[in-house]
Order: sequence, then structure tokens, then C-alpha cells
Amino acid sequence: MTYDLASIRARFPALATTDDGVPRIHFDNPAGTQVPASVAAAMNRCMFEASANLGGVFRTSVAADQAVQDARCAMADFLNAPSEEEIVFGQNMTSLTFHISRSIGRHFTKGDEIILSRMCHDGNVYPWVLMARDHGLVVKWLPFNTETFEFDLDVLDTLITDKTRLICVGGASNLTGTLNDIKSICSRARDAGVWTYIDAVQSAPHVSTDVQDIGCDFLVCSAYKFFGPHQGVLWGRREILELLEPYKLRPADDEIPWRFETGTQSHEGMAGTQAAVEYIAWIGETMAQDYHDRYPAFHGRRKYVHAALDFLFDYEKELAAHLISGLQQLPGVKIQGVSDLSALDRRVPTVSFTAAGSQPADIARALADRNIFVWSGHNFAVEVVEALGIRESGGAVRIGPVHYNSIAEIDTLLAALREIL
Ligand SMILES: Cc1ncc(COP(=O)(O)O)c(C=O)c1O
Repeated sequence: MTYDLASIRARFPALATTDDGVPRIHFDNPAGTQVPASVAAAMNRCMFEASANLGGVFRTSVAADQAVQDARCAMADFLNAPSEEEIVFGQNMTSLTFHISRSIGRHFTKGDEIILSRMCHDGNVYPWVLMARDHGLVVKWLPFNTETFEFDLDVLDTLITDKTRLICVGGASNLTGTLNDIKSICSRARDAGVWTYIDAVQSAPHVSTDVQDIGCDFLVCSAYKFFGPHQGVLWGRREILELLEPYKLRPADDEIPWRFETGTQSHEGMAGTQAAVEYIAWIGETMAQDYHDRYPAFHGRRKYVHAALDFLFDYEKELAAHLISGLQQLPGVKIQGVSDLSALDRRVPTVSFTAAGSQPADIARALADRNIFVWSGHNFAVEVVEALGIRESGGAVRIGPVHYNSIAEIDTLLAALREIL
């Protein structure tokens, strides 16, 4: 089946917005995507029909319990989690990571080692640096090759010792766009008895995320990056979630996943997250039939979601190829990421670049003047811009297409950049 971009875009009211007749072009997606109308409707419905705290005997509370359970099941499908009881909701990836790091840190002792990556967003760096400081742990750094923009896993092997307790890496970089081989990293960690914490915030909107296949111990993502509302989600392996001491109030439920969900959660955020998963499943069911066979063990929504993400990734590779080859023709432009067109399986379509003689912030402003939305700077990938030596010069311009963008939008962007540069 051909890619039905018109049907997809029709589901996102924001994509039809124009200003003085000029369409908005969203390449700001790595910082947050637009949402289908069905996501906003689900949140609306939750607020009107299930606005109550959990665990009551009256109708709105029963409806709220159901909304939470349904959202957990949707995320279990999205991540191929063995059980929805391993799905923990929270405000966002950063808050969830700070929160669980407190429980994880208690489990380690002075002199233990953790491995952090130079490719990560600070959300998967600084909570762990602070945890290490609080418990006297040693932080070791996994560098990436600044020519290939990838990890050398032989280096990881030299970092793992019998004192290593935790490895924190990202599924995809929010700056370079590199898709990491997290399955191999987790396998090495498992062989050494080391826990793994995967930041899938930037990979989850682009590729199928299967926690059982990856073999990780924790994985975090954020629904607002995959067409949902501002809502964080953490998956943890049951044995570990049960083992860790939760930082919780005394009357709060001691069972997983409740023991890690502090206070009253955003039930409407959960309902919107479920609707985002349903949206992806809709693509899988109606457009990605050719991909269903890839997931013979999955059924229903779980199969549709994973087939959809494979299907969408194939389309996104076309966008990435067009964007990269167009950028390569612009004077003085350096792509800060994998630019080999035969290696598009090793990156998401997020493409950052620097341009000789131009400030990234100025380019972003000139694009905004043409109603083309992009981010510039470090994008919280502090370690990455340091490693690339571009922190002082203002970071990079980040172009972040997703499946609802078109080749025509990329052409408009490239024409604008040609003028600006
Ligand atoms: C790779 C990555 N990790 C973590 C985060 C932080 O996510 P949140 O805003 O949900 O805390 C971001 C946000 O851009 C990100 O791109």
C-alpha cells in the first residue's frame, strides 16, 4: 500500500494551520510533536467523564480507574511489556528518572561504578551524576566516535568491570539522530550482571520499541514526542521494580506499579497517551498490512503498533535521505550525524547541522520568519555538543521530520536555507 499522507495529516488539526496564508511547517518535532484530534478528544472525555480520584465506589472514580488501566495496557502494547503492571506513569522522562534514581541509588554502595554515555540528553545523564555524588559511586563515560557519530562497543567492554552496576544509554540521540544498538549494549550488560536504563524518548516516535527484545531493565519515553500529551512513561522489569524501595507516602499502595507513582497523576494525560497509541495502531491496521508478518507472536493492537512503526520508519528514511542530500548541497553545511545514505537504518530522521559563518540561532530565527519551525542550540544534549566541539559556537540547527511531514515541506525548507545561507 502506498503511503497515505493526506489521511494521516487530516488527523492533525494543527498541521492545517496557516498564518497570513503561509502554512506552518513543523520540523520542531524532536522537542514535541503535534497531536491527532482523537488525542485531545480522549483527554476531553476523561476530564468530563472520569474527573475523580482513584479507588472510589462511585461512577466517575470507577471510570478513572478504568482510564488508568486502559492506558497502562496501551503502553504495554506500545513497548511489548510482559505486563501492564510494569508500566509506571509520571510527569515526564526527566521527573521519572530523578524519581527512580533515588530508589536505584539506595541499592548501590560506595565505590560501585555506573557507565553514562556522552551521546545522551541530559535527562539520562545528570540524574545519575547526582545519584553517584550522593552515594559515592564512580562515573565512567562511554564516548562516541565524532566522525561516525556512533559508539564503539569494544570501548564499552573495557569500561565494564566487576564493580559496574548500571549502564545508561539512549535509543536515539536527540541531536545527532544516531540510533544506537541498545540490544547489543544490554546483552553485554546482562552478561556482566549490570542493570540497563534506556532513554527511548527519541527512538520511540520512529522505531518499534520492544523491551523484551531489547533485554533492558528500565526504559523511559515521553508521549508528547509520539503524538500524545505531556506524559512520561517508565517501564521496569518486574523483579527489579519489586526489589527497589519506593519513595512513596505511607498510605500509598505498595504494589507495583502504584508504589512508584507519586501523588495524583494526570489521568487525562494517560487517556491521551492511550489515544496516541491507538492512533499509531490505526496506521498499522489500515496501512501497514505488509508489515504484520514481522510480528507473528503479537496480536491486535500490539501487532498493529509495531507494524505501523516499521512502516513509518521506511517512509521516514525517504524523508531523511531527501533532507540529508539536500543539506549536503548547501555551501558550508556540516551535518552533525550519520550522513551516509546507505546507513539510514542507523539513524532517525532528526538531522542537525552547522553552517560556516552562520549562528544556529540566527538560522532558526530566519526559518521562523518563513513559518518553518526548528530548534537550535544544545537541545539539552550537553555532552554531545561538548564532544562535537560546537557548544561555544551555539550548537547546531536541528531539523526533525516525523511521519506527518512531506518531501514538499523539506523542499520548502531547503529553498529557504539556500536563501538564508
Ligand atoms: C533523548 C531525550 N531524553 C530525555 C528528554 C527529556 O524528556 P522529558 O521532557 O519528558 O523530561 C528529551 C527531551 O527532549 C530527549 O530528547
